[in-house]
Amino acid sequence: MFSNMVLKLAAALSGLVLILFVGFHLTTNLLLWRGAEALDRAAIALHNQVWLPAAEAIVLTAIAVHFLTVLILAWRNRQARGPQAYAQWQSKQTSWLRWAANSTVISGSGLAVFLLVHLQGMRWREHDPSQTSSLILQTLQQPAIALLYGLGAAVLALHLSHGLRSMARSLGLFYPQWAIAGQRVAIAIAIGLGIGFISIIALANRTLI
Ligand code: HEM
Repeated sequence: MFSNMVLKLAAALSGLVLILFVGFHLTTNLLLWRGAEALDRAAIALHNQVWLPAAEAIVLTAIAVHFLTVLILAWRNRQARGPQAYAQWQSKQTSWLRWAANSTVISGSGLAVFLLVHLQGMRWREHDPSQTSSLILQTLQQPAIALLYGLGAAVLALHLSHGLRSMARSLGLFYPQWAIAGQRVAIAIAIGLGIGFISIIALANRTLI
């Protein structure tokens, strides 16, 4: 129904919305390093914004659009034996990037499962915004949940290492002369976000270690 070009653009734009959200989300969560009150104050302020329901709807729509478009593109690619077209380029990649590129659908599906557990435990559960820090600490102090969040953060880093490059390419921001530098920046952002989320898990368990 939709051409591959339209689907790639939709995947890239929804991916851009999601990366901006994840950056904002991590920044808010990192306030926990300044103390529980700093985070709770930010959560209260956020919940008082009139635009919050619209922003939440945009994020949830972006998740659905991104997931569907990437799945359809991967399926069409497989039908057309597309992955072989990239074999030569991939041979020049590091094993981390090759792994990231080959596992996009699996890492994306893993993130979807993580998100369902995460939203069920932290967003869709009835809670007072002024108690957000307690909710986070109680959740992350459960070993099995902490492990799941750690895996989620690692899979996010893997997914974005390839995803950021694909997004730049689909948005027409790929220049061969900047390919290597751009890829390094993408990996740095991806791993930086992963480490940022893992730091919150470590912080929540610091008194227990
Ligand atoms: C240590 C890691 C994380 C912590 C402590 C955390 C914490 C939270 C909290 C407390 C909420 C509820 C916010 C509220 O009701 O005001 C939330 C919502 C959410 N989180 Fe996370 N999060 C983490 C990692 C992630 C990751 C890695 C992703 C994405 C891959 C993510 C995506 C979301 C989404 C989509 C929402 C719903 C936003 C909304 O609709 O308001 N989170 N998170």
